[in-house]
Amino acid sequence: MMDGFGFPVSAGDFRFRAEARIVRRLLCGIEHNGPVLDLGSGVGHWAEEFARRFSQVIAVEGSNVLYQALDERCAPIHNIRTVHGDVMAFEPDDQYSLVFLGGLLMYLNENDVIDLLQKLIPCLGPEGTILCRESTVRGQTVTRAGDYPVIYRSVSDYKRIFKQCGLTLKHVERNEPYVLMQMGCELVKKWKRVVPEPLQALPVVGRLVYWGMRLGAPWIKRLSEVLGIRFPSLENHFFVLRTGSSVHE
Ligand SMILES: C[S@@+](CC[C@H](N)C(=O)[O-])C[C@H]1O[C@@H](n2cnc3c(N)ncnc32)[C@H](O)[C@@H]1O
Repeated sequence: MMDGFGFPVSAGDFRFRAEARIVRRLLCGIEHNGPVLDLGSGVGHWAEEFARRFSQVIAVEGSNVLYQALDERCAPIHNIRTVHGDVMAFEPDDQYSLVFLGGLLMYLNENDVIDLLQKLIPCLGPEGTILCRESTVRGQTVTRAGDYPVIYRSVSDYKRIFKQCGLTLKHVERNEPYVLMQMGCELVKKWKRVVPEPLQALPVVGRLVYWGMRLGAPWIKRLSEVLGIRFPSLENHFFVLRTGSSVHE
């Protein structure tokens, strides 16, 4: 998400550590003795984080390149098992304490999201939790085709889908560290659109934007709310789900 914006190398780490603190808080009440299923695990940042706190992690990744990186990264970690394959074909075979869907559902159409969630529900242990961390939009769901086909759903669309699957939404929370970085990315993208490439000075502009966002985020967020501007256009939310039928805010 953050390559090519001129942000400092530490920006990714900063975001991950801030998100990990939120995830630890969201999961503090759940059983940590059981396994974690990390679907669409990418190179395994979250798998590694969960392996420190849970007994075992099964990380499933579909992309060849990312799977190779995942496998190499996780090889020294005794309690991570990596699986190469499509999550839709993966057959869960355990009772999981946690299923983590980090940025996966946006790549699946609605029928596949429903099929996947319904396949996962019987595999949740007692008090088992599904934690989704998904890109979202404020207005209507946006479907993009082309080179990067993706579906940015609204929070209300996700709520509707979860309810349809019989899941209880225990908690929903905007992913503030993600939104902070997204604000920076959208500003740099605008800069790149209006300034000719030789004059872009990304290493300087990117760092200025990054630090501007980190220091000024609360005021910038408030200002965009007061002015009614949808900034950033893309958000991200955590959804904490359990089995059951009623939906709570
Ligand atoms: C946005 S990335 C997130 C990676 C990681 N979960 C994280 O939060 O950092 C989504 C990942 O899901 C994988 N993915 C998307 N659709 C998939 C599918 N049908 N089966 C397996 N992996 C898939 C992508 O290859 C990518 O690594």
